[in-house]
Amino acid sequence: MIKRVVFNQKGGVGKSSIAVNLAAISAARGKRTLVVDLDPQCNSSHYLLGEGYQDIAPDIRDFFEQTLTFQLNPQGPEYFVHQTEYENLYLMPANSALGDLQSKLESKHKIYKLRDALDKLADQYDVVYIDTPPAFNFFTLSALVAAERCLIPFDCDEFARQALYSLLANVHETREDHNEALDVEGIVVNQYQPRASLPKRIVQELLDDDLPVLKTQLSASVKMKESHDHTCPLIYLAPKHKLTQQFEALFEELPH
Ligand SMILES: Nc1ncnc2c1ncn2[C@@H]1O[C@H](COP(=O)(O)OP(=O)(O)OP(=O)(O)O)[C@@H](O)[C@H]1O
Ligand SMILES: [Mg+2]
Repeated sequence: MIKRVVFNQKGGVGKSSIAVNLAAISAARGKRTLVVDLDPQCNSSHYLLGEGYQDIAPDIRDFFEQTLTFQLNPQGPEYFVHQTEYENLYLMPANSALGDLQSKLESKHKIYKLRDALDKLADQYDVVYIDTPPAFNFFTLSALVAAERCLIPFDCDEFARQALYSLLANVHETREDHNEALDVEGIVVNQYQPRASLPKRIVQELLDDDLPVLKTQLSASVKMKESHDHTCPLIYLAPKHKLTQQFEALFEELPH
């Protein structure tokens, strides 16, 4: 099973959009694909489940809560996974109250629980995509501990470029301390506007610094917002659209 986390501490750079759309392509190509939503904003869960997303239980909060109390017969991780309406696409949904558990989970050192759960699911899924909140907290750390590959969406902003170095330092520290299997597989340039000079210069600076910028760049397009509004991944909403084709090219660029 390929275990991929989509991570950037900066908000609104495209983590959920990228996690869900790559997962949807993967599933459409016949891979059993699991999305784990660790963000209390629940954007990926909403995107994949539609309007009723808050009524789906059990969710990732129930999973973590279970780790806090001893149980003779705990539920296996598959108990918290739900099938979506898309073939081969499964979801462990988030919960807006996830943050309530954070300090307890931290003080009880539950940082390896997600990794253990994914290990148990390894022969049931070909790939897992973990969507993370815009923070470096217990949940993102759990994801970085559980994953082997890390995708970093980047929105071509100068502040984002500066923040990238501390982000990469956090990933490398996690690798040293908890998970030597973790690799940054690439920076995904998102919302790229090829005609503007600033994004071009910023991307060139990343390349000059030898950062692993992926070849495929994702354009800024209103289709993305439409896709969220319709709670329908791009490959189903607009299979021929340029942005969809870019997502497919990005998918091909990565191991799958
Ligand atoms: N390529 C794109 N073109 C146009 N809009 C985009 C693109 N990618 C993302 N967006 C928009 O930007 C917003 C943020 O995207 P998204 O929710 O995927 O980011 P995020 O990093 O997951 O945010 P958060 O940190 O809050 O979880 C959304 O409104 C989305 O529709
Ligand atoms: Mg998000």
